[in-house]
Amino acid sequence: METKKMVLERKALESSVIEEAADRLRRGELVAFPTETVYGLGADARNEAAIRKIFEVKGRPSDNPLILHIAELSELDELSREVSPKARALMEKFCPGPITFVVKRSDGVSDLVTAGLDSVAVRMPSDEIARALIRAAGCPIAAPSANVSGRPSPTDAEAVWEDLNGKIPLILDGGRTEVGLESTVVDVTGETPVILRPGKITPEEIAKVWQGVSVEEASAEVPRSPGQKYRHYAPKAKMTVFVGRFDDVVQRILLEEAKAELEDWKIGILCFDESRDRYRSHDVISLGSYFDKEAVSHNLYAALRQFDEWGVDVIFAETTDEKGLGLAIRNRMYKAAGGNVVEVAR
Ligand code: TXA
Ligand code: MG
Repeated sequence: METKKMVLERKALESSVIEEAADRLRRGELVAFPTETVYGLGADARNEAAIRKIFEVKGRPSDNPLILHIAELSELDELSREVSPKARALMEKFCPGPITFVVKRSDGVSDLVTAGLDSVAVRMPSDEIARALIRAAGCPIAAPSANVSGRPSPTDAEAVWEDLNGKIPLILDGGRTEVGLESTVVDVTGETPVILRPGKITPEEIAKVWQGVSVEEASAEVPRSPGQKYRHYAPKAKMTVFVGRFDDVVQRILLEEAKAELEDWKIGILCFDESRDRYRSHDVISLGSYFDKEAVSHNLYAALRQFDEWGVDVIFAETTDEKGLGLAIRNRMYKAAGGNVVEVAR
């Protein structure tokens, strides 16, 4: 299959391009498109043959449910049989935006989308291209991140191309995504909200609207969000994340760098602007200033893919604290490292 890439300017969305993409979706084809978080691989949520293709193309386990993307909150009524007033208040506060709500499903939603669960995940993206596409298609769009399962989520059209060239007919290119990490997933079916996957919308922000919010432990044995159990977002190299006081972490990585040099390994170092110049290795990537978490989340996945391209054997990584967006950054870095985290003592 030939994969076509069509570039879209955000300022002047070309309706003929959106129409072609929407038309393909309605015909049961898959289309990759930008959202404000990461690129999605979309299919008409009412078309089961199209949904099957998503799982095939990504190599995604069928027990991992999909998010439905809508353009207006009113479209939720068709997908969910019950949304509590508190849940509604959260939606009104944060939609459109980088957050996904797990609600009780209605009978009309396909079992393939929900992986047989009694709930369904719904998200209303703020990205104009995503919204125009959903509107033009006239149906909810089921869309996981547009990567092959296990690879870092794509934050630009080139990354989608790397993973899916030849496997899908169309990629809409809207440039680099703003947030860079997948949406916050919050279960709003209970008495209090539970964050199943941290993201740009933080527990602190959610608590201002609905108190009692909790964050599901990443180590839960039976995660309520099935996607959390897979090793995810992973680069090919063995990655280790070092946690501790900033200076202690840098010292420790310098030590690991020296040891790895003796082994003749190709070393990748993931750090911040503040420490960048302290490392000797050739393949060093700074995610931005340690104090600029927006920049760090924006840059993380592209950095992991860059290390793959360079073919490094090991990655030694610094990380942020867990405040605000830091919770999501750490969550993704820990997963990329497959849980390989070292606490550096003083
Ligand atoms: O930012 C995003 O959310 C991106 C863009 C494309 O919208 N999408 C995305 O989809 O990250 P995906 O499929 O890569 O991740 C969806 C996550 C998975 O962890 C999945 O297990 C969880 O949402 N999920 C989906 N439906 C669920 C449900 N009914 N209950 C609990 N978790 C659910
Ligand atoms: Mg994904």
